[in-house]
This record gives sequence, structure tokens and C-alpha cells, in this order.
Amino acid sequence: MTESHIHPHPQWSSRLAFILASTGAAVGLGNIWKFPYIMGENGGGAFVMVYLICLAVVATPIMISEIMLGRRSRLNPIQGMGALARESGVSSHWSLLGWMGSITGFMILSYYAVIMGWGMAYLVQASAGNFEHASASSVQVMFSDLMADPERLLLWHTLAMIITVFVVARGVNKGLETATRWMMPMLAGLLILLVGYNISSPGFGPAMNFMFDPDFSKLTPTAIVVALGHAFFTLSIGMGTIMAYGSYMPTEASVSRAAILIVLSDTAIALLAGMVIFPIVFSHGLDPGQGPGLIFQTLPIALGNMAWGHLIAIVFFVLVVIAAWTSSISMIEPAVSYLTDRFEIGRIKASILIGTGAWLLGVLSVLSFNVLKNDTLFGKNFFGLMDFLTSNIMLPLGGMLIAIFAAWQMRRAYSREELALGPVTWRLWWLLTAIVAPLGVIVVLLNGLGFNIIDRVVQMFT
Ligand code: TRP
Repeated sequence: MTESHIHPHPQWSSRLAFILASTGAAVGLGNIWKFPYIMGENGGGAFVMVYLICLAVVATPIMISEIMLGRRSRLNPIQGMGALARESGVSSHWSLLGWMGSITGFMILSYYAVIMGWGMAYLVQASAGNFEHASASSVQVMFSDLMADPERLLLWHTLAMIITVFVVARGVNKGLETATRWMMPMLAGLLILLVGYNISSPGFGPAMNFMFDPDFSKLTPTAIVVALGHAFFTLSIGMGTIMAYGSYMPTEASVSRAAILIVLSDTAIALLAGMVIFPIVFSHGLDPGQGPGLIFQTLPIALGNMAWGHLIAIVFFVLVVIAAWTSSISMIEPAVSYLTDRFEIGRIKASILIGTGAWLLGVLSVLSFNVLKNDTLFGKNFFGLMDFLTSNIMLPLGGMLIAIFAAWQMRRAYSREELALGPVTWRLWWLLTAIVAPLGVIVVLLNGLGFNIIDRVVQMFT
């Protein structure tokens, strides 16, 4: 991003820079760590199917809308929503959507940095060669030792937050998008290599069945909520990150093409990660539903027993940390850009301010794996609650409001102009955004609250 003298608001140096930064924000722990473990907790294939449907008909049109709103406003999400509302002559209370998003991003970063810290701790383990000849029981011990050590967790959490704030403070452009350019193909390549290693393992067949042979009887209303929430989480949409990134996007670039490219690469990485993890799970008789520790208690077994495993493990965890890093920086971009656009406060101060707050909140997540382990609400510890509240409730609601604004509040002439689609594709986008996406979110959330809507509709047709 370069500070231009004509526009007060910065702009990406090229079209590619937007794609790289947004792909960097999308591909992260959500793909490698979260997707496998929530799939495992929610029964596999049917969950994957619902997730893919949510991506296609709910998340993609919302992603297009969110980029579009950002690019048209050329402002941070809070002031940007206000400006767009004024432009279309609707209530300026829409800026509240920007506020909600900025708060959501702050909350997500608080626990995301904790998990990023786990990745860093495992990079050190990998470098020390500690996966060598790992067994299911030895990796379990390694993981529970880390969880039981609040000081070590706190150290890594702090370091993750420092490197996040460091990059945000310098402005988004320098360095990390460039990292995304080589990191993404390398990550995909390494995952494919690991899938290849798994193909001959006894767990490969069962893993493929688990992931791709849907058993709809395992699909609970909560699982559907989690699948929908993850479609938002994995694409970094519903809270203004993509709006902020879109606001730095040059006008000539195609919004929809960029969105589809990002969705496809993000989905590919997530599915590959599943195809790496589950063969290990089934080859060693592990529990697919063991929760947030899943990748940390499976991957080292494969890495510790394969040829070149030491080196591959190091490269893999380096990539995981970088992927997490290009995501973590995106979470506070809406809040930081608001502070810098609105007040006489520099990026450095704004980043440190927000980062410190997120760090403090994150300490509770660190402690929820040990000291506060038994302090639960609705059967969830603090980390679990933060994750559920942000991913599964706040992001879908934010995304739904973005869709409603883009389709029903903004003048259609503006969305036509920004999206520059043909008349048929514009209509398709409009129908999905105006009706399918908002309805999808409402139905899934109400269904999750126990209204059994989906069951009743299914029964009507069977
Ligand atoms: N999409 C990222 C991942 O999969 C996480 C992320 C980055 C995010 N920015 C976000 C999630 C904004 C929600 C909102 O790891």
C-alpha cells in the first residue's frame, strides 16, 4: 500500500497486491487447524457438504458484496458504512455495522494469537527434532505438557501478538503479501506431498469415507451453525476485514473474479489439510473429535516417521506460522484504519493500542486451557465461548447485514457500476445476496436455537 497524494486513503500498489493480501487473510489457522478439528467433531462428510454449500451460496456472494462496499467507500468500515449509507440516502446507523465488525475482529485476534502461539511452539519442537519416531502417545504428552504450561503459552501468545502488531504498525503492504506469493504454492505443495505420503496408509480409505461420504444422520443443528460460521471465518468475511482490504483496491480490478479465486484457493487448502490429518487419525486409531489439539496430536506422528520428516516438519510449521500471521494482521485492520482515518493518531500507536487490548483478552484464552479449564459456560471454556460467539454468531450476523445493505439499501445503479458484471450474472449475485444469503443465515441460526426448521422443511419434501 502506498500513501498517495491524491487520495487521502492508501491504495494497493497493484491488482495482484489485493489478491495476495486477501488470500493471505483467508488462508490461515482456519484452514489447517480449525477446519479439520471441527469437521472431526461434527461427524465428517455431511458437515463438509453443508460447509461447501454455505461457501457457494452464502459466503461467496457476501464476499463479493463486502469487497464492493469497501472499494466504493474507500474508507475504513466504520466511516465507510456511514458514507455509503449517506450516498444511497439511507440511515447512517449503518456505521454501527462497522463498529460491530471492528469489535469482532479484535475478539477473534485475542484467541487466534494464542493458537498461532501453539504453532510457534511446535515450530521450535520440530526444529529440535522432537517429533523423531513420535507415537500417538508421545505426541499426546507433548501437547498436554504445552497446555498445562500457562507461562510457555503466554510467552508464545505474547510473541504472536508482537509480530502481528509490528506488521500492522508498518502498514499492510511491505513484505507479507510478497510472502503470500511463495507461501501459498509451497503450502499447497507440501500438503499434497503429505497426502501422497498418506495414500498407502491403512487410514486413507476410512479417511476419504469420513470426509466425502456424507452421513446426514450425524448432522446436528449445531453442526450446521458451525459449518456456516466457518464459511465466514475461513474467508475472513462478515466483520470488515475484506471491506478494509477492498478499500485499498484499484477500481479497474474485477471484484467477483478476485472473490472466486480467493474462495477456490482457500477451499483447496482446507480440504487438503483434512486429507492430511484424517488418514493419520484413522491409521492410529485416534479420536477424530478430540478438539482443538487435533492437528498437533496427529501431524507430528506422520512427520516424525517419514523420510526427510525433520526438514519437512520445520518447513510445514514455518508455513503454518506465516499463514496465521498473514491472517492475524488482517483482523485489526478495520479498527486500526478507523483510528488512523478518524483521529490524529498514527498507525503505530493505533496498532499498539488495539494489540495490547487483544493481548489482555487473550490471556483469558491462554488460561482456559489450564488454570481456568473447569470454568465453563454452556459446556465451553473461555476460548470455546469466544470462538463460538465470534465465528458462529457475530460473523454470520455481520455478513447477513452486509448482504442486506448491499442488495436492499445501496442503490442498484451503484452495485451495477462497481461489480461491472453482465446483466445475468449481476442478477444471480443480487438474488443470492438479497434473498438466499440472509435467509440462509436466519434459518441456520434459528434452527441452531432449536426451532427445527430444516428438519421440518426436509420432511415436507420427503
Ligand atoms: N480466515 C482466517 C483463517 O482462516 C482467519 C481470519 C483472518 C479471520 N481475518 C479474519 C476470520 C477476519 C474472521 C474475520 O485462519
